[in-house]
Amino acid sequence: MLEIKVNDTISLKQLQPEHAPMVFGQIHTSRKTLRRFLPWVDYNTHEEHSYRFIQLMQRKADDQEAIAFGMWENKTLCGVLDLHNWDHQLQKAEIGYWIGEEYQGKGIVSASCRALITFAFKNLRLNKIEIRFILQNERSAMIPIKLGFTKEGTLRHSAKLHGQYVDTVVMGMLKADWKY
Ligand SMILES: CC(C)(COP(=O)(O)OP(=O)(O)OC[C@H]1O[C@@H](n2cnc3c(N)ncnc32)[C@H](O)[C@@H]1OP(=O)(O)O)[C@@H](O)C(=O)NCCC(=O)NCCS
Repeated sequence: MLEIKVNDTISLKQLQPEHAPMVFGQIHTSRKTLRRFLPWVDYNTHEEHSYRFIQLMQRKADDQEAIAFGMWENKTLCGVLDLHNWDHQLQKAEIGYWIGEEYQGKGIVSASCRALITFAFKNLRLNKIEIRFILQNERSAMIPIKLGFTKEGTLRHSAKLHGQYVDTVVMGMLKADWKY
């Protein structure tokens, strides 16, 4: 199991099937806020759904297509951070994240992203990381902005949120520009 230490209290642990009840617990408790920008939340209605998600991400990790981590604060799994759309030819991948309501606004996601990006540039030999978010998701935007990402563009009607087309912003970080 891959583990990345972020600081004295926060760590990233690659998701394992036994984490499913904790992942589902966070989704269920924070359903109202998470569903605002994450359409899949409405379909994640049972622990089994989180279990299947973890199994899928394990298969993708075996194929080097993605890696999903639980974000842990001490002994609590408080959210999920992942690398996906891993393109080996271009040596690039995207980062996605969500965290339970009770743990938001504490800097856990920013610090975790910083550690994962450093790991990806150093250990996975990536050359570029992208973060994509729905235009209206100001809280999500703050993560790449604070980490020094560059805005690369807005993709119009590139996602669907609760039946409506929405625009997506792409921000990128190159290995050469990353401040370790
Ligand atoms: C997006 C999300 C992961 C951010 O988590 P977080 O815990 O707020 O992240 P952090 O605390 O690490 O950093 C967020 C920064 O945004 C700032 N922020 C907080 N609320 C904000 C708001 N409403 N508008 C703008 N900025 C805000 C914070 O001040 C913080 O900066 P600081 O460290 O200088 O204080 C979290 O809100 C979440 O899970 N949202 C629901 C799911 C989601 O939208 N995921 C992203 C999909 S692309």
